Amino acid sequence: MAFSPTRVIRSHIEPESAYHRSEPDTGDHLPVRLDWNESPYGLSPKAQKAYDEFRSGNIYPAIDQAPLRQALAEYLGVSDERIIVGAGLDDVINTLAMTIVDPGTEVIISEPTFGVYRSLFELHGAQVTDIPLGGAPDHALPTQGIIDRVSTNTRLIIICNPNNPTGTLFPREEIVRIIESVDCLVAIDEAYAEFSGVSHTDLAERYENVITLRTMSKFAGLAGFRVGYGVFPGALMPWFRRAAPAFFNVSAVSAAVAIASLQDLDHLRANAERTVAERNRLSAKLAAIDGVTVYPSATNFVLVAMPGDDGSRYVDALAAEGLLVRGYREPGLRHCIRISIGLPEHHDRLIEVLRREVANVLSGAVRA
Ligand SMILES: Cc1ncc(COP(=O)(O)O)c(C=O)c1O
Repeated sequence: MAFSPTRVIRSHIEPESAYHRSEPDTGDHLPVRLDWNESPYGLSPKAQKAYDEFRSGNIYPAIDQAPLRQALAEYLGVSDERIIVGAGLDDVINTLAMTIVDPGTEVIISEPTFGVYRSLFELHGAQVTDIPLGGAPDHALPTQGIIDRVSTNTRLIIICNPNNPTGTLFPREEIVRIIESVDCLVAIDEAYAEFSGVSHTDLAERYENVITLRTMSKFAGLAGFRVGYGVFPGALMPWFRRAAPAFFNVSAVSAAVAIASLQDLDHLRANAERTVAERNRLSAKLAAIDGVTVYPSATNFVLVAMPGDDGSRYVDALAAEGLLVRGYREPGLRHCIRISIGLPEHHDRLIEVLRREVANVLSGAVRA
């Protein structure tokens, strides 16, 4: 009998378009990744040593990932009983979705924001509602709009703070106002907290409906090891732990490297400071180019509005020089590019290319 994929696929899942995975052409250049908000630095010395000395790949990870959860709890100053870890923060968000989404459950987000929220919660059958951020340059959190939208069907509000891709750090009072005005969960995604110097983990201690989400991918430079975590409400932990996969999907080597990284905080904090200093230098250089607007960022990336109405010309020109940055197809962001903070020498090359491209566009030599 003929087999049809749609006979077995969940009815609400759309196939992914091939476009999603295509990489820009960097010709003969070795690509410099300034498009995924990774750290440009290698492992910290203690993490590198733990990695080099790791010998026990034949053994399952520690039961419950207890040592990793304890190390993270100590780092944040919270109880390890409330920490869930995962193979990257994406995986922790997946555990959250598995635990709270019934078909049609509403999840509120404010776009433009981290694309995984919509795609992952929709995959689980949630109705994802966008209460959009305010316009540029402030990209303000639509506090009242979010509060007004919450109904008995709403189970979760996600606030990405600082927000990806705008880089915006929202005022704490606004977040607290949302938390105090609703009876659903409020998840604060703090993937970039270490670059903003602001954390709201204490809100997860103070309010029963707050989750804070964190990752070792960014400031700790462990993106390839996939270690994320979250602080969850104590009363809900029995359910979240029921949904979390065995060993929380964190490999033994990733756990060892993450624990060692947390013993090297001075080193990691110095890297974060270097990143922030370089972000400020890059932002000033970009802002000095005619027609370019750099939005304030509290993260390890900057969102930049470029002259013309299509940023893809700049993405392609940079890719041709081996510099990968992120472009957007969404209407409000089509003229923008997002640049991850890498090394100064990469940024110097990037500035040169952008100066040249902008001059071409502004002189009318090409249409952007
Ligand atoms: C806001 C935000 N949350 C979560 C993640 C996922 O991080 P992880 O690498 O831990 O899965 C990212 C990654 O870019 C992000 O930008």
